[in-house]
Amino acid sequence: MAFELSFPNAVDARRFRAVAARDVAAAPSFVLREERAEDVDAREALLDEAFGPARFLKTCERLRAGRVPARGLALVAEDEGSIVATLRLWSVNAGMGCAALLLGPLAVARSHRSLGLGATMMEEGLARAAARGHRAVILVGDAPYYARFGFDAALTEGLSLPGPVERERFLGLELIEGALRDARGLVSAAGARVAASPRRVARASARAA
Ligand SMILES: CC(C)(COP(=O)(O)OP(=O)(O)OC[C@H]1O[C@@H](n2cnc3c(N)ncnc32)[C@H](O)[C@@H]1OP(=O)(O)O)[C@@H](O)C(=O)NCCC(=O)NCCS
Repeated sequence: MAFELSFPNAVDARRFRAVAARDVAAAPSFVLREERAEDVDAREALLDEAFGPARFLKTCERLRAGRVPARGLALVAEDEGSIVATLRLWSVNAGMGCAALLLGPLAVARSHRSLGLGATMMEEGLARAAARGHRAVILVGDAPYYARFGFDAALTEGLSLPGPVERERFLGLELIEGALRDARGLVSAAGARVAASPRRVARASARAA
């Protein structure tokens, strides 16, 4: 299995290799890189396959809609020209004055599951977030999967989301020890807004006329 990665330090790289060493013989080679504009259709198709149309109804979508991901933290894995995994992280305020990232969605193509690619995306995303100075990450997801990366529901006890959530699926991770200790209150979106495309602006003006 061939990877192209950017861990900030050797410890993380060693940890990754332990995960990636599984199923080496069966695994295809792929490149993990930042998402580009031309990846969007393939990424959306992958998310449709993984979550179906109900994905747009998720509470976390309220924190992502109309925003762009945190700088440098929209990642894809590409295998021979196909997008086979996606992971994005988003800037949020985790309660009063506590900056954090919201992680998700994470999805791996069915054809590429159980090869360590999900773990690779997570390790790489978290390493890049730490390297950029982010202090904490929250997500809503399956605790049995995310616990292996250090996520814990105890770290989000003081936080609420702008919609329904099962508490045991609302998880946090401190990249800097104590970063979520005082996190209290409602999580809100903090990322840069999506710029309106010229076509969308023209349509809006035509409607207003
Ligand atoms: C979850 C997902 C990203 C994992 O990707 P992956 O590349 O298969 O993950 P890895 O290879 O790193 O890990 C696979 C292991 O995780 C386990 N796993 C996968 N999904 C899990 C889940 N929801 N809960 C607990 N364990 C899970 C697998 O059983 C496997 O276990 P094994 O190593 O003992 O065989 C992928 O299954 C996926 O895209 N699922 C659909 C979308 C989704 O559920 N996203 C996560 C939101 S909660």
